[in-house]
Amino acid sequence: PDTITVQELANRMAEKGADLVKALFKMGMPVTVNQTIDQDTAELLVTEFGHEIKRVSEADVDIRHDEDVDDAAALKSRAPVVTIMGHVDHGKTSLLDALRGANVQAGEAGGITQHIGAYQVKAKDGSAITFLDTPGHEAFTEMRARGANVTDIVILVVAADDGLKPQSIEAINHAKAAGVPIIVAINKIDKDGANPQRVRERLLEHEVIVEEMGGDVQNVEVSALKKQNLDKLLDAIAVQAEIMELKANPDRNAEGTVVEAKLDKGRGPVATILVRRGTLKVGDIFVCGAESGRVRALVNDKGQQIKEAGPSMPVEVLGLGGVPMAGDTLTVVENEARAREVAAYRQSEALKKRTAQAPVSLEGMFSALA
Ligand code: GTP
Ligand code: MG
Repeated sequence: PDTITVQELANRMAEKGADLVKALFKMGMPVTVNQTIDQDTAELLVTEFGHEIKRVSEADVDIRHDEDVDDAAALKSRAPVVTIMGHVDHGKTSLLDALRGANVQAGEAGGITQHIGAYQVKAKDGSAITFLDTPGHEAFTEMRARGANVTDIVILVVAADDGLKPQSIEAINHAKAAGVPIIVAINKIDKDGANPQRVRERLLEHEVIVEEMGGDVQNVEVSALKKQNLDKLLDAIAVQAEIMELKANPDRNAEGTVVEAKLDKGRGPVATILVRRGTLKVGDIFVCGAESGRVRALVNDKGQQIKEAGPSMPVEVLGLGGVPMAGDTLTVVENEARAREVAAYRQSEALKKRTAQAPVSLEGMFSALA
């Protein structure tokens, strides 16, 4: 339950702490200015002093996404968000490249993925799939874990010539922890020594039971290099997505998740947002983590400026007041005052958290209580 100290309440009411203590005493509550009272008592006091109740609980300042549920009738189907995971060099970026017919892998420094890229690929039937490419190195384990939270489906890439490796198993665990279904892409089947059957067998040990083994996990043998069976992989994703009936309301204020953010020399703070629901539009006022802003421009995965972005679309957002953190939620709000209020509240909460985490000696605590 929400509580407030008598002094804090007095400050907000612009009254003397002692006057509040007096009033509380008359109400049968002998307390000091440093003690806390509950929300009901606080509201009673506020009315007693002839003030209007505006906001007793500070938490009301923040946005409560869980309380804001969309009507079932407003939901429309949306593209699945797919994260590609797997061991270093098993071909995650190459596979994504092959799927989008572009060539990101060749352009990367040393061929190692350094950020979470987000792209949309159109399937033959015109339906879209959103892909997140995650880095493969162990140092980025945490980033990968975050990737699994916005994701609907995980593609586990396993090189057929190398088999299951520590990071393959890690990926399985991330997907399981997030409750996200896995599709296994057994890659590099063009190579000598490729042994897809061995991969399927080893997966059993980690309770990933593919269809050939009597389970329900789809697996597709592919070659990113030779572009073999890519349409089979896209079909497998479509099948999985259909089972999941993924939906979102596109006709509301947008809400999205930061997949990456940076300070760009020329453009200022830039965040790649994955829109979760609603439609994000140029001109929208928003809060993003502890930052606020107004959408100055939206740039899609092809580098084109667009006017709006709907559910499951990854988009670069310009117009942030500062650089948010990956994993932060972007929420469109009604006006700038509201955006600033929420951002300021979150900044103060973050500060409080940091202060609370500072070590306190036991002696200090006891003397404070005395
Ligand atoms: P990290 O991002 O560093 O974890 O690597 P990655 O999993 O994204 O692998 P990447 O796509 O960079 O591929 C690693 C190497 O494997 C590159 O030299 C690719 O050319 C090669 N490779 C990827 N797919 C295939 C394939 O299907 N067949 C063959 N023969 N080589 C492949
Ligand atoms: Mg890569």
